[in-house]
Amino acid sequence: MIYLDNHATTACDPKVVEVMLPYYSEHFGNPSSTIHSEGRKVADAIDMARKQVALLIGAKPKEIVFTSGATESNNIAIQGLVRSSDGTRRKIVATPIEHKAILNQCKAMEKLGYKIVLLPVDRAGEVDLCEAEKIIDKETLVVSIQAASNEIGTIQPIRKLAVIAHAVGAYFHTDAAQAVGKILVDVHEWDIDLLSISAHKLYGPKGVGALFVRDGAYSMPISPLVYGGEQEYNLRSGTLNSPGIVGIGKACELCTQELENEMKRLSSMRDYFENQLFEHEQLEIQRNGSIANRLPHNSSLTFKGIDAEALIVNMPELAISTSSACTSGALEPSIVLQAIGLSRDDAYSTIRIGFGRFNTDDEIKIVADILVRSIQKLRSV
Ligand SMILES: Cc1ncc(COP(=O)(O)O)c(C=O)c1O
Repeated sequence: MIYLDNHATTACDPKVVEVMLPYYSEHFGNPSSTIHSEGRKVADAIDMARKQVALLIGAKPKEIVFTSGATESNNIAIQGLVRSSDGTRRKIVATPIEHKAILNQCKAMEKLGYKIVLLPVDRAGEVDLCEAEKIIDKETLVVSIQAASNEIGTIQPIRKLAVIAHAVGAYFHTDAAQAVGKILVDVHEWDIDLLSISAHKLYGPKGVGALFVRDGAYSMPISPLVYGGEQEYNLRSGTLNSPGIVGIGKACELCTQELENEMKRLSSMRDYFENQLFEHEQLEIQRNGSIANRLPHNSSLTFKGIDAEALIVNMPELAISTSSACTSGALEPSIVLQAIGLSRDDAYSTIRIGFGRFNTDDEIKIVADILVRSIQKLRSV
């Protein structure tokens, strides 16, 4: 099996697993129990992880709040601001290509009386900055725009969007689950207020993530969603997942060390793969997303007239994904692909490939061959 679904999740790096293991049964103290050395040892490990996560995104350690993943971080960001707002700003701005952890929240906030405006995106999935300037106004409480797409890989002009939001006094949040550890991210250069991270997208463990909060949670009007023991600056109560937090810390440290090399390696792997496919004109391939501003490891491809599900079933030796989201058992074509203008048929003919740290050049040649053969076979049928 060749794994190429690294947008869905990544393997936990063995170096990450190694540092996590002692925190299950050896260093199991509660990091809040700092009265004894066992607790303090774990608290020190958490402090170290906070520094490692902060370093990867150019933040200060006190600006990192540990959560259970990007879904929770996104929920704390948006609903945390809504809950502490005095109600004078009643607009939330996002895009139609956000993850459901944003879009479904928007629906819920709409029921509470918030006006939700989704900024249009072009064929490459890039936000229209002129429209953004018109739509983001003094009514806007928060603008939430993903840093990079989990489907088409398009990277958004986050700094420019944050400037527009701040000019009218709105907060700016970015769901950077697909960007952190994959491209250079600097929260202060981007000038943003809130940013969501997921460990399992960057070779860390599942069930742990982080929220960057500019200047720390005590400096921002953001209310907790869960009340309890006041951990994490009283923004995210509950006993800390110390093995997971040690894991996200190590995963971020490895990304800080490897990022630039990995970006080059994965983009040349991806480009080689796409070139191999594009040599076969008869395959009628269309590439989705921005060419200039795309995640280095992403390839979203439409094969005209081919049922992507049938194609994937025909290639049991590959773990790749369609771009479709399966909702309540019904397979609906991807809303992201439809938002960038693909027809339903083309959306059903699209696959998403996410190369990763553990793929090799040899594998990529094999993958291209398998894909070409399978498409030819399906076309002949
Ligand atoms: C852009 C984006 N946001 C949020 C999430 C959810 O992350 P988590 O699984 O850590 O809750 C994902 C993962 O699918 C994602 O791709």
